[in-house]
Order: sequence, then C-alpha cells, then structure tokens
Amino acid sequence: MVEKKGFFITFEGPEGAGKSSQVERLASYLRNKGYECLLTREPGGTSLAEKLRQVVKSHRGPEKVHPETELLLMEAARAQHVRELILPALSAGKTVICDRFFDSTTAYQGGARNLDRSTIDELNMFAAAGRKPDLTFLMDLPPEEGFRRIASRKSEGFDRFENEKIDFHRNVRKAFLELAQAEPERIKIVDAAMDIESISEFIRKSVDESLF
Ligand code: TMP
Repeated sequence: MVEKKGFFITFEGPEGAGKSSQVERLASYLRNKGYECLLTREPGGTSLAEKLRQVVKSHRGPEKVHPETELLLMEAARAQHVRELILPALSAGKTVICDRFFDSTTAYQGGARNLDRSTIDELNMFAAAGRKPDLTFLMDLPPEEGFRRIASRKSEGFDRFENEKIDFHRNVRKAFLELAQAEPERIKIVDAAMDIESISEFIRKSVDESLF
C-alpha cells in the first residue's frame, strides 16, 4: 500500500455524459495504484439520502415540487451523505469518487431554476461541512447529444430532470461552464464527446498531475 491521503474527486455534467463509466474506470486505475476508493453518488449514497433521491427525482402528481423544496431536498441528502459517508472515508485515508456534488446544485437549482446564488453557495458549504472537492471533472456535452444517448438506453422510470425542456439543460450546461471558468484549478473540463478511452486517459493524467 502507498502512503495514503484521502482525496475527494467529483464528476459533474449533464444527463448522458458518461459520468458513471468514468467513475468506475478511475476507481480501477487508482485501486491498481494501491489507493482505497469509495464510489458514491448524489443525491444519494446512504440509505436516507437514497430515499430523498427517489423523492426529488421521481415525484409526480398534482402537487408540484417547488424549486426551493428541491434545493433543500438536495442539501438535506448532501448533509447526511457528507457526515455519514464522505468525511469518515476521507478521514480513514480513502479516496472518495462522487458522481455529482454541490456544483450540480449551483448548475441545476441556480443556473436552471434561477434560485439565488448566494443562498445556494451558503447552503452548499453548510451541507458539505465546508469540504470542497479537491478535483472535479466536468464532463461537457451539448444537451441534444446527452438526450440522444439517454434515449438509446433502458429507461429507469419517470425522471423530473430528464423531463425538463432542452432550454433548462442548456442553462445547466452554461452554469457548469461558468463554474469551471471561475475555478480552473479545481474544475477540469472534459470533452465528453471523445471516445471513452481518450476520456479515461485525460482523467488519469489530470489526477496524476493534480493530486499525486
Ligand atoms: P443522475 O444520477 O442521473 O445524474 O441524476 C441526478 C439528477 O439530480 C440529475 O438530473 C441532476 C439532479 N441534481 C440536481 O438538480 N441538484 C443536485 O444538487 C444534484 C446532486 C443533482
């Protein structure tokens, strides 16, 4: 085993960008190097947070989910996930790889739902107990291409976000790119239209350069 420090790596991007495959590939790469990895996702990652995920992604019916409620459900899931799983794993020296984290809140609830940015920043830090990711990969893809990919895979049932109009997803993408521009050290933009192996190679190189 190599000398260990717990790194916190997150993946962000639109639906259909191929985040989950890259999470798996990066974990294999790091495990081969002797790093213990914890793979997780948001919203979710713990039993309670997965229940909140189900509600916030799949709720339907006459009573709509207000943007403010959506924001607080995301942050509630995060507060639980960070304290129950992420912080203990980092303290134990594990590398945590998380499929989405608080940049998704800034992009979706801020950029697309238009909620106040300073409220979001404050809630993000509150829920994350002040722990920012060490490195974030933004898998960037035009929403049209993301939807084309989603359409060709098996549906997991009704999804409130996938059901939003294309303009919503354009706003999400714009907000993600603005975040990456503002924090180029932490957030690396990945061209998710590249083939899967080239993407993995780019990610491995960035991780080696940035963290080790
Ligand atoms: P996914 O696991 O398929 O990416 O689904 C998670 C959905 O939740 C996705 O549509 C993005 C959305 N989301 C937010 O709107 N805000 C958040 O803070 C997070 C973590 C996810």
